[in-house]
Amino acid sequence: MRKRGVETIAVLLTGVICLVVIFKKNDYEENETLTSVKSYKTLRSQFSVPKPLTLQPLYSHCKRNESASKVDGFFTLPNEIQDFLYYRHCRSFPMLLDVPDKCGGPQNSADVFLLLVIKSSPVNYIRREVLRKTWAEERVYLGVQIRKIFIVGTSKTGFQKKKLNKLLKIENEEHKDILQWDFNDSFFNLTLKQILFLEWMERRCPHARFLLNGDDDIFANTFNMIEFLQGQKDNDGDKHLFVGHLIQNVGPIRHPASKYYIPVQVQESDSYPPYCGGGGFLLSSFTARTIYNMSHSITVLPIDDVYMGMCLIKAGLKPESHFGYIDLRDTRFL
Ligand SMILES: *[C@@H]1O[C@H](CO)[C@@H](O)[C@H](O)[C@H]1NC(C)=O
Ligand SMILES: *[C@@H]1O[C@H](CO)[C@@H](O)[C@H](O)[C@H]1NC(C)=O
Ligand SMILES: *[C@@H]1O[C@H](CO)[C@@H](O)[C@H](O)[C@H]1NC(C)=O
Ligand SMILES: *[C@@H]1O[C@H](CO)[C@@H](O)[C@H](O)[C@H]1NC(C)=O
Ligand SMILES: *[C@@H]1O[C@H](CO)[C@@H](O)[C@H](O)[C@H]1NC(C)=O
Repeated sequence: MRKRGVETIAVLLTGVICLVVIFKKNDYEENETLTSVKSYKTLRSQFSVPKPLTLQPLYSHCKRNESASKVDGFFTLPNEIQDFLYYRHCRSFPMLLDVPDKCGGPQNSADVFLLLVIKSSPVNYIRREVLRKTWAEERVYLGVQIRKIFIVGTSKTGFQKKKLNKLLKIENEEHKDILQWDFNDSFFNLTLKQILFLEWMERRCPHARFLLNGDDDIFANTFNMIEFLQGQKDNDGDKHLFVGHLIQNVGPIRHPASKYYIPVQVQESDSYPPYCGGGGFLLSSFTARTIYNMSHSITVLPIDDVYMGMCLIKAGLKPESHFGYIDLRDTRFL
């Protein structure tokens, strides 16, 4: 569970302003198979290219589960919980942006020592820019390769959604570090984002040794992380590792006013397994694979870090405590 505060508002607003500036410069007609504005315009001027047809999506849209509303007290639940219950079973969404070679292809992915996986959302452009220039910069560090990837869904609807997606596409053409799926990037969809990332990892980057899984508003000490990971005796990613800010002996908050409100209709049990919260944790690729494997048979819980704890416990694994990185939202550091 995490806190996202008022401080984000200023960042978001500046983000939108800067994005709009870039957008105006690059307003163009879209064709997924053409990579640049120029080549498209050139083509159109040279030949009379018909206006592209819309591609049929390769996947079928996940239908809302109408019988979800039959559970007791459904209509007394907050809207976002109702929405969650309607779409809880949906786990497959089309990818809008991919970076297939992020890890040099599946075969070479073992050369990546640490993959930074950062949850972001379309409007958080400024945060991504800051991370790219600070601790999340891709480089060889202490003799090992660091790569990073931002994982996002979509925001808004209609024209605004399209506009944000175009901006993100342009950003990704420049930086090649964004994975985007076509689902509503909301707080209650963070577990879905996590599962979709793990599925991507299995396909594109199965052998990267370790992962830092975090939010785009944390500060991580890359040096400390690498040193810590290199200090793991005979674990080069092929054994269990899951460390972060350990939270134990807590359960769902049953208070409707809380952001983390989980009614009995979502989870009946009054306890959560041990999990690592606070916006960031380190894990091995072995553990990432195991969590993904377990996720197939565990119903989605909206709180992503708790969900990871559920997958671990089902696999007979445990999260561990480590205080090697700083969470900027932790009031002790403000
Ligand atoms: C994009 O343009 C190419 C070449 O003109 C065309 O063959 C293709 O069908 C178009 N793609 C889409 C998604 O419309
Ligand atoms: C739809 O919701 C009902 C009631 O919660 C549940 O029993 C059922 O398994 C759900 N169906 C799917 C496809 O998830
Ligand atoms: C996304 O989810 C949030 C929270 O449930 C909701 O307020 C918003 O309207 C949703 N957006 C779309 C485009 O569905
Ligand atoms: C999650 O995303 C899907 C697809 O956009 C959407 O239908 C659903 O309402 C979202 N769920 C929540 C809880 O925001
Ligand atoms: C994933 O689960 C299947 C059975 O459900 C098992 O055969 C396979 O070995 C598991 N893989 C990992 C990496 O745990």
